Amino acid sequence: MQTLNENTVVEAVVAQMASTPNPRFKEIMNAAVRHLHAFAREVNLTPEEWLEGIRFFTEVGQKCTPYRQEFILLSDTLGFSALVGLMSDARTPGVHTDASLLGPFYRMNSPDYKLGESIAKRTQGTEIVMYGRVSDSNGKGIPGASVQVWQTDEKGDYDLQRPNAATEMDLRGTLHADAEGLYYFRTVIPAGYSIPMDGPVGEMIRAQNRHGFRPSHIHFLIGAPGHREVVTALYIYNDPHIDSDTVFGVTDSLVVKVNQSDPSSPLPHLPSIKYDFQLAVSGRGDGSGRVGADPSQITRKPAESAPSLT
Ligand code: BEZ
Ligand code: FE
Repeated sequence: MQTLNENTVVEAVVAQMASTPNPRFKEIMNAAVRHLHAFAREVNLTPEEWLEGIRFFTEVGQKCTPYRQEFILLSDTLGFSALVGLMSDARTPGVHTDASLLGPFYRMNSPDYKLGESIAKRTQGTEIVMYGRVSDSNGKGIPGASVQVWQTDEKGDYDLQRPNAATEMDLRGTLHADAEGLYYFRTVIPAGYSIPMDGPVGEMIRAQNRHGFRPSHIHFLIGAPGHREVVTALYIYNDPHIDSDTVFGVTDSLVVKVNQSDPSSPLPHLPSIKYDFQLAVSGRGDGSGRVGADPSQITRKPAESAPSLT
């Protein structure tokens, strides 16, 4: 019979998990248990605080729907999603565009648009053209690269936050670069916004005296056969929250300006943002680089989308 105390219970748990057949699952769970126990010892966690934590995580789960992923929001606001993305980027050899959060508002199967079309179908605002080139690590254009884009409107809302979210997509679309890797589309300047604050993550943010805002940005998910997907966003430089993003997605290389006059733009009569994306060659086991997913896919198809841990 073993004698347990606050320092040895962790070893008992690790010993009981020792026959886990999947080595990666075993490694992850061993480290998770060790760090979880170390955390409780460090803060001398009381039973009341433990129960408060259980209440919090229960509410996070209960807040999730096919259109709302409160767990991803929690991961984002703790900088955890940014960390996983940064580590994935650092493992990827070759020059490539920096990653930024996919966030909870990505949706698969957005409408297809031709180059030059507007993704703002149900939105008024200052029209701009967004253009550039998708190339490989050596700067060679990638013909036909797929460019998925999504953003907020001029009030800072995604289509998913509108009453008709289930049926109408707006300010999102999928385009394909031309034979030189060039892409361009019309849109409106998005507004920065508060992350959803009506759930337990909002409760946490308020308790920490944080503002909860993301600076104005446009999201991109860019892919091409044989290349690692880039999941990123471009941030408008003069937003008041550019240096204090509540989900830690902004890095210098992703900050852009709206140019009022640009003769090299494909639509020179419009203000423009120009940005060239670079994709690394896909290597063994480097996955897609997506930190996040379409919420409806997470809640509807857990068995199909999650890797097996047994
Ligand atoms: C977003 O940019 O869409 C986003 C990212 C993380 C949390 C909330 C929103
Ligand atoms: Fe966003």
